[in-house]
Formats: sequence, C-alpha cells, structure tokens
Amino acid sequence: MNVLHIVGARPNFMKVAPVLAALRKHAGISQTLVHTGQHYDVNMSDVFFQQLGIPAPDVNLAVGSGSHAKQTAEVMTRLEPVILERRPDLVLVYGDVNSTVATALVCGKLGVRVGHVEAGLRSFDRSMPEEINRLVTDQLADLLFTPSADGDENLRREGVSAQKIFLVGNVMIDSLVSLLPAARKTSVDGLPQRYALVTLHRPANVDDGATLKAILESLLEVNRDLTVVFPAHPRTRKRIEDFGLNAGQLRLLDPCPYVDFLGLQSRATVVITDSGGIQEETTYLGVPCLTVRENTERPITVLMGTNILVGRDRQKFRAELARILAGNVKKGSVPPLWDGHAGERIAAIVAKQ
Ligand code: UD1
Repeated sequence: MNVLHIVGARPNFMKVAPVLAALRKHAGISQTLVHTGQHYDVNMSDVFFQQLGIPAPDVNLAVGSGSHAKQTAEVMTRLEPVILERRPDLVLVYGDVNSTVATALVCGKLGVRVGHVEAGLRSFDRSMPEEINRLVTDQLADLLFTPSADGDENLRREGVSAQKIFLVGNVMIDSLVSLLPAARKTSVDGLPQRYALVTLHRPANVDDGATLKAILESLLEVNRDLTVVFPAHPRTRKRIEDFGLNAGQLRLLDPCPYVDFLGLQSRATVVITDSGGIQEETTYLGVPCLTVRENTERPITVLMGTNILVGRDRQKFRAELARILAGNVKKGSVPPLWDGHAGERIAAIVAKQ
C-alpha cells in the first residue's frame, strides 16, 4: 500500500512525525511525503523537520503565501498532477490549514481515499478560516481520526457514518512526549525564573490595528510584574511594524524551534496564546493557559485541562492572571488517549485498509 502524507504549515509537522514513524514499522507500506510550501521560512518549517526527525519531503509544491483563495487554489493546481502520477492508495491530511482542505478537494474529485488526522474539532465560528477547512475536509474524508470524544459527537451530528470515525487520541502529544526530555534541557539566556510566554497570530487578533494595540497594552501591563517572552509569528511581527505599535519592552523573539518552544512552555508561569495546539500542549504539561479567543475547537482543554478562555475581555484577563500569579492555578488532568501512542493507533488502522 502507498500512503501519501501532505503537510504545509507549522502545526502540521508535529502531527505527521509520529504517524510517519509508526507506519514505518508496518511491512508492505510505502510512504511519500509532500510539502505544499505554505510555510517556507527556515524557522517556520525546516527546523521542525530536523528536530522531529522528519525525512526531507519527496515533493515540494512551493506554493508560498497568498490570499486564502490563491493559496488553496495553488495547492490544488500543483498537487493534482502529483496525485495522478503517484496514484496513492490513501492520502493522509493533518489539522485544519489551507493545505489540508485543498488536498481533500483534489483527492475527493480524483476518487482517492483521504484520512483526516485531527478530525471532528469545531469552534462553531465560521469567521475562522480553519473552521471552514475543518468542515469541508471532514465531509470529504473517508477515515476520520479524532483526538477526543467531542470530535466523534460533532461528526455524527453532521451525518458522518460511525464506521469512518476512529477515536485515536492526540498525535501532537506523541511528539511532545518523545521530545520533552530534550526540551527540559534547553535554556534561554537571561530568562528569569518566572515569565509569561506569549504567542499570537490569529487574523482576528493581529490583523486589526485597534485590537492588536489593545492586546499589546495588556501585555505591557503584564510585563510590569512578569517578563513577557513573545516569539512572534512573521505575520504578527509585520502587523506590529505596519501599525507602528509599541512592543519595545516585551521580549520579542523570532519563531522558536519546536524543542526550544516546548522547553519555554514547560517552565512558563503562564502561557498566553491564541493557538490551537498550544492549548493542548499546556493542558498536557499542566501549565496555566489563558486563551485570547472567544471560543475554542478544543473544549476538552477547558473542561479537563488548564485552559481558560479570556477572549477580549481585559477585566477577565487581569483577574485570571492575578489569580495565577497568586498561585491559585486551575488544576487540570490529561484527557484520555493523550498518551504518546496515537500515531501507533492510526498506523494500525491504516495498515488494515
Ligand atoms: C496558518 C494556518 C493556521 C495555523 C498557522 C500556524 C491556515 C488557514 N492557517 O496560518 O491555522 O495556526 O498557520 O502558523 O492555513 N509567512 C512568512 N513565512 C512563512 C509563512 C508565512 O513570513 O514561512 C507570513 C506571510 O506573510 C503570510 C503570513 O505569514 O502571508 C500568513 O501565513 P499563512 O500560511 O497564510 O497563514 P498563518 O497565519 O501562518
């Protein structure tokens, strides 16, 4: 059987690594890795391949940046001949990025089977581009691998046959479990014992000048009591510059490699983020997380984990942060099947197809 994996953007890489490794242990499966090139900077892509032990892609579509329509269309146009030439038995797609939905559309129309890793997550907010990507990908997928039971429920409600749904757990946690020992050995020069780790890149938070200004003002306020360490996504850094905003006193870093960022998370006093994956990683690590979003497609991190949604409510943000700084942190537990073996469970199901 020939399995073709598609990755494109930073959050895909920690999800594909465990599945590639687990499938390698099954005889009779050959694997092809395609990188769409949605992310192309060394520190958004290459460094993740090195640290996660992912082999160099067999094909790079080099689509680069663009509007949603353009980026999605470029992936589709460049991927179609690759699928026609290689005729995979199954294509595995990951997460909710534009490369994921573009691939599901191409394969759906060519009659090539698709497996979606991290299926079933829903924020119920269609203003998020990722929500559109999730809805379309899940309708087209033949095998849906979910990280938690809420994903199964969402899919059944949308009419997906139960036979296609497999609750396998969280593959991203597989990568975390395997690289946490290395992460604990990393250090960042001159960092104090206690600090807030920040990431922000959602269009809703960073593309509007007034919103981004208000968030930065909150962070400058935090920075008076607790050093703010802020590895900035290229889009966020650009917006700060374009809008001429003040982030001078924050410790702004380039995007961090995976292991280094995991080290920073594991030691943080609090993580402040709008990322999806970081809500999950902090839940696993038991580190307090304040999510600067009104909703989450990962409600289990709020129900079971250490995540608290603060949205744009500055009062709530201040109150929750004060509680954490006073040592009154929300105790969480690790959701079922977030155990470092999700990739193996996916491989076992794929091998039976
Ligand atoms: C994408 C995903 C998002 C994910 C995020 C992680 C979609 C719809 N969104 O958002 O779900 O959480 O990746 O990072 O697929 N850029 C660079 N260098 C790069 C890549 C991007 O400078 O290597 C800049 C470009 O200016 C680009 C912008 O970042 O226009 C946005 O990149 P894009 O891939 O379109 O979306 P992300 O915001 O990264």
